Amino acid sequence: MKSKARLGEKYSDDEAMKLAIDIAYQGWGDVKSNPMVGCVVLNSEKKLVSFGYHEKYGEGHAEVNALKNVEASQVEGGSIFVTLEPCSHYGKTPPCAELVRQFPFSRLVIGLMDPNPLVNGKGAMLVSEKGILVETHSKYLQELEYQNSIFLTNMKEKRPFWAVKQGLSKDYKITGPEGKTARVTNEHSRKEVYRLRHAFSCMSVSGKTLLQDSPKLSVVREDQEYYPDLLVFCTDPNKYLALDVPALTQRQAEQVCFLSPAKEFKVIKDNGFEFVQVNWQDQDSILQMQQYFYSTRKWSSIFVEPGAELFDFLWQQKVIDRYYFFIGQNSQGSTAKSFSKHLNFEQDILRKLSVPQKNFSGDYFFEIDA
Ligand SMILES: NC(=O)c1ccc[n+]([C@@H]2O[C@H](COP(=O)([O-])OP(=O)(O)OC[C@H]3O[C@@H](n4cnc5c(N)ncnc54)[C@H](OP(=O)(O)O)[C@@H]3O)[C@@H](O)[C@H]2O)c1
Repeated sequence: MKSKARLGEKYSDDEAMKLAIDIAYQGWGDVKSNPMVGCVVLNSEKKLVSFGYHEKYGEGHAEVNALKNVEASQVEGGSIFVTLEPCSHYGKTPPCAELVRQFPFSRLVIGLMDPNPLVNGKGAMLVSEKGILVETHSKYLQELEYQNSIFLTNMKEKRPFWAVKQGLSKDYKITGPEGKTARVTNEHSRKEVYRLRHAFSCMSVSGKTLLQDSPKLSVVREDQEYYPDLLVFCTDPNKYLALDVPALTQRQAEQVCFLSPAKEFKVIKDNGFEFVQVNWQDQDSILQMQQYFYSTRKWSSIFVEPGAELFDFLWQQKVIDRYYFFIGQNSQGSTAKSFSKHLNFEQDILRKLSVPQKNFSGDYFFEIDA
């Protein structure tokens, strides 16, 4: 990223905000459940003086990192660009709006106003009270909303952001022939799955897939492996509790939650495990479940890797915010299990897209927002 940022060179407003967005992505997964934020500092001649991003949850915000080596004299009459409104409250770190107003900037340019009720407009106000002009930059609004879709869902709806990921063969199957477990996508796709998983607080799968595939549902990053919390969909947790599979044995019991259908919302704790029951026909019950996962379990996001039956259920239930599909290069044939029992991939899914979004060494990757 440093090579893309040209210190000492002139930046237009668009270029400065775009750079701030690109830099913010470096915090991917490391800042959860905070938003990714980037900051760019220009002097009065609009030349790039400094930049920074929120690197790790609980540590310095983007503004702090961008301003830590900046002298006031360098930015007299200059501009500071932030992808998200500077915070105005004492959280894990002091308010960034206080820091920004200590510098003699003439302008603060904000990409997204912060919907967090603790901030919303207050950060901008604190800065403008100092006589610094505060502007919003709307050109990249869609990109900014996409970048922080998890955070925005959390703040606006007080619930976790849900994503589904499936790895499909060229003929849209999720298993090998005869329904046997098989790798249907390549190594490059699998690395991307790890990258995606890293941005989510909780992994999720059906008990049936745990039993059949024995997956780890871990995240591997720079040769380090870790195991986020796990949510297991099943009707009877007793069938899966004692499974000798790494997804369960590598986690503390407290990290595992079983989710089953029932008449009403209920949470039962036993031997460290958590058993959540929900009535999917009742919106209040679903709301209670969502609030429980978000506020009590502190899950900002849930990454589900369903087989066909669970996929169909989640699709019909409309609980998913984003779908990720990886399509491999080999077909698995008619005896392999299709991604869905009811949907046709080309008609029901691909129709929503005009072109494949990414190509991972021959595998295609599609991303669809619900
Ligand atoms: N390629 C991929 O991306 C991918 C991803 C996942 C799985 N797979 C493959 O898919 C195969 C399994 O697919 P599948 O369609 O047979 O099974 P599945 O969709 O993984 O799981 C079905 C099971 O999920 C549980 N379930 C479904 N809806 C539920 C709900 N509303 N609440 C709670 N539990 C619910 C039920 O568990 P109970 O039986 O306990 O009631 C049901 O039997 C595996 O062999 C695996 O290899 C592939």
